[in-house]
Amino acid sequence: MTATTSFNHRHLLALEQLTRDEIHYILDQADIYAAHANAGRLKHSVLNGTLVAQLFFENSTRTRSSFGLAARRLGADTLDFSPSSSSISKGESFIDTAQNLVAMGAKVLVVRHSVPGTPQLLTQYTDASVVNAGDGAHEHPTQALLDLMTIRQRKGRIEGLTVALVGDILHSRVARSNIWALRKLGARVILCGPPTLVSDRWTTLGCEVRHHLDAILPEVDVVNVLRIQFERQRSALFPSVAEYFELYGMTQRRIEMGRDDLLLLAPGPINRGVELTPEVADGPNSAILDQVTNGLAVRMAVLGLVQGHAAAPLEF
Ligand code: CP
Repeated sequence: MTATTSFNHRHLLALEQLTRDEIHYILDQADIYAAHANAGRLKHSVLNGTLVAQLFFENSTRTRSSFGLAARRLGADTLDFSPSSSSISKGESFIDTAQNLVAMGAKVLVVRHSVPGTPQLLTQYTDASVVNAGDGAHEHPTQALLDLMTIRQRKGRIEGLTVALVGDILHSRVARSNIWALRKLGARVILCGPPTLVSDRWTTLGCEVRHHLDAILPEVDVVNVLRIQFERQRSALFPSVAEYFELYGMTQRRIEMGRDDLLLLAPGPINRGVELTPEVADGPNSAILDQVTNGLAVRMAVLGLVQGHAAAPLEF
């Protein structure tokens, strides 16, 4: 464990705003919750009596489920708000909706929205802690934290590793959060994809930009395969899915071009046959489901810390 500081923020909006030590501290907290779970201690009391409300204005499987479960594992009550069945359809605003949930006692708002900056906006209108669960193409901080936790678990460190983010960098909040955190923690970051999805301007964030996946595979410790976000593309950015797969799909042949201990990550949802093959997704280099498991521990750590509570140390 490498924590040298505590975490003194009421919100988690973006990893861009955190220091290296704060990121390590959250990961150390998540490791403690994971160790408790491995020892059979699933329930904690750090958020007893606290109401955590989830406002998801975009679909989700992993993030929504694991934030809800994380809150309940910490002893909190949860309120899961669905826009489609709410009074948003009658014209109620996003801010008014959030203020009504706070009026019911919500102390933490977990927010996913297609508009970048929406979680930040909420902090100006409520006293609740706001946690960003993904805002447009801006950031997805807990996804990057669970990616980092998985890398630390498998590799024992982040510093000095070479991590490739492959695919739709342009539209990816996961990429942005990973870039900020990986660079702060001392990793070399390579962004790889077609020029329409990865332009040279990304080098200003301290990354290398490459367009030939086969050429970088022998150099990397970790490949994080990002989904093509067709829903955020206004026009076609490559000729066909088949051509994308030919050039950037992770296949068994490409796994074998890498090091034996190449670690394969994907934030999910994965599209088998578009970004990676089923045999790679389910193969020995893949930690895709470990990422999901780690997401629960990361979200427990974050929900506790934004309310000022650290994990209880594991007692043997
Ligand atoms: N990785 C991720 O955010 O997945 P969901 O959209 O299912 O939450």
